This record gives sequence, structure tokens and C-alpha cells, in this order.
Amino acid sequence: MQILSTPDAQSLAADLPPFLEIDRVSKIYPTPKGDAVVLDDISLTVNEGEFICVIGHSGCGKSTLLDMVSGFREPTRGEVRLQGKRVTRPGPDRMVVFQNYSLLPWKTAYENVYLAVNAVYPDKSKAEKTEIVRKHLTMVGLDEAANKKPGQLSGGMKQRVSIARALAIYPQVLVLDEPFGALDAITKEELQEELLKIWGQHTVTVLMITHDIDEALFLADRIVMMTNGPAANIGEIMEVPFSRPRDRAQMMEDPHYYTLRNQALDFLYGRFALADVE
Ligand SMILES: Nc1ncnc2c1ncn2[C@@H]1O[C@H](COP(=O)(O)OP(=O)(O)OP(=O)(O)O)[C@@H](O)[C@H]1O
Ligand SMILES: [Mg+2]
Repeated sequence: MQILSTPDAQSLAADLPPFLEIDRVSKIYPTPKGDAVVLDDISLTVNEGEFICVIGHSGCGKSTLLDMVSGFREPTRGEVRLQGKRVTRPGPDRMVVFQNYSLLPWKTAYENVYLAVNAVYPDKSKAEKTEIVRKHLTMVGLDEAANKKPGQLSGGMKQRVSIARALAIYPQVLVLDEPFGALDAITKEELQEELLKIWGQHTVTVLMITHDIDEALFLADRIVMMTNGPAANIGEIMEVPFSRPRDRAQMMEDPHYYTLRNQALDFLYGRFALADVE
């Protein structure tokens, strides 16, 4: 997040459009039974460098919403703007990591990342591209596995390759759609920590969908909680106050953590959820 301290910087910023704006966006799918309103009039402004998590029940429209940021789907009404420019299609300024890795199975980890870098930066020299690929594989701890193909990698390693591939393009926005949903708890925690470290090093704004409230509380600056569909909207936005760098154990000792956790569970599941966790 930007911290503006001088009057000059403030007046300069006043002339700039917000970094990322989801502006009165609705998504309606035509179906044989008539129009299905999935998202109804959603607005959200995201600051540069922010880490946003989106939570909500299955099918409420989280992927649909972030796909409109990535440019894979178009809003029926409203628009998404990145630095004032309307998003109409996918672009290297917005990279996506999905739950299912989407790596080319016949290419090594190194080649998967190299192909993406080469596609976006064809004019860079081979040495520069190699350097970018190596740097990002190192960043996610995959030096040793660079020459392995996806079939020889664990789920966590495959997801590391996907993250390295997305970041090697130097996007402004990283969209993560349940990236750790298929991983075991320990691998998931490791990757969350790596993701935070990388986010601290790269200037990247993150929008991440998760079903895991603890994950959202550990990672996010703000948690966007969506109402149930049809015609889903943003129900509440929770500010996560814990200072960074975050220490999971320390954070979980903070009584405030459980207040926020219960608040989120209460929003999602109603008061019965509280009985389950207490
Ligand atoms: N191309 C489409 N045509 C019609 N309906 C669609 C289409 N794509 C998605 N939907 C519907 O839109 C709704 C939202 O889907 P979406 O995948 O965005 O939900 P989600 O919140 O990401 O769910 P999950 O948590 O299960 O991933 C669902 O009811 C889905 O059936
Ligand atoms: Mg989804």
C-alpha cells in the first residue's frame, strides 16, 4: 500500500485514477430458463500492492468476478479498470494461477516458465530470459527440480512452478483462484509463507480466492466476503489489522484473531458455525 507523506505526493496522487477499480459490475448468463444474474452491481477499489482475499460460498461467483479482472470474461454491465484503463481481454499485466496448475506436461519446470517469459518478452536476449527464469525458480525454491516434468513433481511443487511462471512475467496484478485448494495442510502453510515473502519482494497486487478463513486472515490486508448467489454482491469487507511480516503462531495467540475468525464464519455460515468451532 502506498504511504503518502508529503503534500506534493498527495496532490500528485489526487490526479491519478485508483489502481484497480471494479465499477458497478454485473454478470448475467443467458440460460434456457431466462437470464441468470450471477453478480449484481459489485464495486471494489483495490490499492496498488494490496493483498485481497475473496471468500464466499461455492457457486456465488468468485471466479466469475476475478475472471473479469483477468479479462477472461466480460462484465454484462459496468467495467473493470486497471490504472484508469478498461480491462477488455487478458494481458501480461494480470497473471492468473489456478488450482489445477495448468502446466504443459511434456515440458520441464524450467521450460514451462521459459515459454511464458519468451512469449511476453520476445525481444529480450536468451541470457536475460534465462536469468529471469532461474531467478523465479529460485524464488519458489525449485532450483533442483528445474529439469523435471510436471508428472515428476508433487502438487505443491507444480503450484510453485505456476507461481514462478506468473511472476516471471512481472505482472501488476496476480490473480489466484484457490491456488492451494488441492494441497495438504503442511504444504499449504509453506506455500502461504512463500507467497507472502514473494509478495513482499515483488511490487504486485494480489487478488486471491480461498475457502479457508485462516488462510485469508494470514495473507490478506482485506477480506472481501461475498453474499450467496444468485445476484451475489459484496456483503462485508474485513480489514485484517495484523502487522507484517506476520508470524502465524503469534497471530493465532492474539485474541483479536478469533474475533475476526468468528466474524467471518458467522458471515458465511450464520450463528451455527460458532457452535461448531467453539
Ligand atoms: N458460462 C456460464 N454460463 C452459465 N452460468 C455460468 C457460467 N459460468 C458460471 N456460471 C454460473 O455462475 C455461478 C458462479 O460461478 P463461479 O464459478 O463464478 O462460482 P465460484 O464462487 O467461483 O464457485 P466455486 O467456489 O465452486 O469455485 C454458478 O452458479 C455457475 O453455475
Ligand atoms: Mg471458483
